[in-house]
Amino acid sequence: MATNITWHPGLSHTERTSFLHQPGLTIWLTGLSASGKSTIAIALEQHLLHNAYVAYRLDGDNIRFGLNKDLGFSPQDRVENIRRIGEVAKLFADSGTVAITSFISPYKADRDLARKLHDEAGLRFVEVHVDVPLSVAEERDPKGLYKKAREGVIKDFTGVSAGAPYEVPEKPEVYIDNSTGTVEDGVAKIVDYLVAEGVLK
Ligand code: PPS
Repeated sequence: MATNITWHPGLSHTERTSFLHQPGLTIWLTGLSASGKSTIAIALEQHLLHNAYVAYRLDGDNIRFGLNKDLGFSPQDRVENIRRIGEVAKLFADSGTVAITSFISPYKADRDLARKLHDEAGLRFVEVHVDVPLSVAEERDPKGLYKKAREGVIKDFTGVSAGAPYEVPEKPEVYIDNSTGTVEDGVAKIVDYLVAEGVLK
């Protein structure tokens, strides 16, 4: 815990984005492994960039190669993983970027904490539940992780292991049933929401 530190106020988010002509916000994708979070996040980032919005994606697997390489999948490590990403996403949003996060983020309390961090900073936080039944995720199993979890090779696998639950979002701003729809359908649902809310043009 650091002591003797001082907060240095600078430009507010409103002042910064008045120069940038785009809002900063966080679009927080949550869902089971293999639900399609990363695929939708990549397509959404491309869509926004093609429409001249600065967007940047923070991905669960990728972040664990660097910033969060010290964290595993115990409950405590997942809490810390999401706490850090909540803080990092807030910084991106404050910079005027559209931050797109794709993390399982299985615990409601951690997602709520990320939202609170944004609320307190006057930044918009859009929770998106990318939903597929566990059976569909397990059927897809693109990385073979569900198979390994069922074999007991991977412990604490979300949705499979007793100690690794996925707490379903109760009131996400956007709900995507990703068991039947296409990637484009998922992106369109998010973009339609942002346009309806007046966040994007
Ligand atoms: S979490 O729960 O939010 O901290 O997880 P996250 O940082 O999003 O990382 C999820 C990706 O890590 C791989 N992986 C596992 N997922 C869940 N449980 C266990 N035990 C596990 N071990 C490795 C997996 O590839 C996840 O990626 P996605 O894209 O979600 O399938």
